[in-house]
Amino acid sequence: MYLSKNDIENLEFTFRINIINSITGIKPANLIGTISDKGITNLAIFSSVVHIGSNPALIGMFSRPMKKVKRNTFSNILKTQFYTINHVNENIYEGAHKTSIKYGKNISEFKECNFEEEYLNNFKAPFVRESNIKIGMKYVEHKDIKINNTVLIIGEVQNITLPDSAVSSTGYINLENSKSTGISGCNTYYAVKKIKDLSYIENELKKK
Ligand SMILES: Cc1cc2nc3c(=O)[nH]c(=O)nc-3n(C[C@H](O)[C@H](O)[C@H](O)COP(=O)(O)O)c2cc1C
Repeated sequence: MYLSKNDIENLEFTFRINIINSITGIKPANLIGTISDKGITNLAIFSSVVHIGSNPALIGMFSRPMKKVKRNTFSNILKTQFYTINHVNENIYEGAHKTSIKYGKNISEFKECNFEEEYLNNFKAPFVRESNIKIGMKYVEHKDIKINNTVLIIGEVQNITLPDSAVSSTGYINLENSKSTGISGCNTYYAVKKIKDLSYIENELKKK
């Protein structure tokens, strides 16, 4: 199949959304936990979580257009500053998917989708007890992306919680051991299978 820009623009609407949404490959599956200034918790699946930098430890994620739909995750983060990122694993992906249903701001997806709120070390935002890898985040800044009204939310890592068995002696996380999942498009979940560790190329160059 070859599709030019013109062909893509003329595709049937749903087909175009699906093919463009999955063309970049596997995206991480994460649940974003927040709490409103009124104390109502919120949980939403996001596939756009991305590493921004290690020092300081920064993570970004894209929030969909704000214009027509109210985005509880983003407004909670702006108001309360703290949020959590929780890996979706193979045991919880169906419930995690349901968090994308538009519940009202007074309804918590934790309850509706059968997840347990967990407040680790008095962190202000709720973690997902059923998740194996959890990151506590503090809002740093956001960038409006004018072309499609999306927002890049950037936060700094405050803490990480994960099983010792999932971390190698050099600090790498084995996502197969943690049963973390990946997403293609908006509906398709993948299990993760490690192929091999290769040497880090920058270190190799230094040896020469
Ligand atoms: C697989 C999947 C991935 C999604 N990824 C994102 C994302 O990266 N950013 C986003 O804003 N919404 C994403 N959504 C949609 C949100 O989960 C959905 O809009 C949810 O209702 C947002 O909840 P909120 O209003 O409580 O923030 C995704 C939905 C699915 C099913």
